[in-house]
Amino acid sequence: MMLHLQTWQEVEAYLQSAKGILVPIGSTEQHGPNGLIGTDAICAEAIAKGVGEATGAMVGPTINVGNAQHHLAFSGSITLRPSTLIAVIGDYVHSLMRHGFERFFFINGHGGNITTVGAAFQELYAETSLKPGGNSPGVRLKLKNWWETPGVQKLSKELFGKSEGSHATPSEVSVTQWVYPEAVKRVAMGAANTRSRDFADAADYRRLYPDGRIGSDPSLASPEHGQRFVEVAVSDIAEDYRKFMAV
Ligand code: NI
Repeated sequence: MMLHLQTWQEVEAYLQSAKGILVPIGSTEQHGPNGLIGTDAICAEAIAKGVGEATGAMVGPTINVGNAQHHLAFSGSITLRPSTLIAVIGDYVHSLMRHGFERFFFINGHGGNITTVGAAFQELYAETSLKPGGNSPGVRLKLKNWWETPGVQKLSKELFGKSEGSHATPSEVSVTQWVYPEAVKRVAMGAANTRSRDFADAADYRRLYPDGRIGSDPSLASPEHGQRFVEVAVSDIAEDYRKFMAV
């Protein structure tokens, strides 16, 4: 149930019996020689849509630009400053709280968002905690990184082993190939540089990882693998969502 495909009356009716919403969040940034710029947002949205179908949960509009300053030395990448992303998440959540949504389950496609989303959650909790009367009726926020579920980790090890790497991975590229088979890129590539130290700004990142990848071989990606990743991620995360809503 995608929020943007409902009428306001349908959302009002949903809120009679449910207070939860799934929020896909990604990034718009380079993903190596064959990865799409929208990879992180595409993965988060496809998996959130599946979790919505499996659980009957509403799925909010995808936040498809995130914290990607370190990718700005590659054409097409777009970033929000951390302070901007915190403000975006705050306004998004507050708007939905006004309608009666109380539980927000973010499905994340980008490692670079993790600390900022955590800070955004603390800002939201602080606002209600600082009010006389406290946190009522009780907003709750959760972040789930899709690539970290047990089923996804197991499948990634089985299919790709060390070639998974940590950026522009064959897992995420596979998911985008399944969602957009018409946009599959066939590109020859050699071995990627592996992670040697933490990167800093965009120029530093590009010096360390000239083709954008970190330790990955995304030429192993396929739409068939992508379908398996989506299925296993949806199954694991649907279970997490049910638990999040139950207590
Ligand atoms: Ni990514």
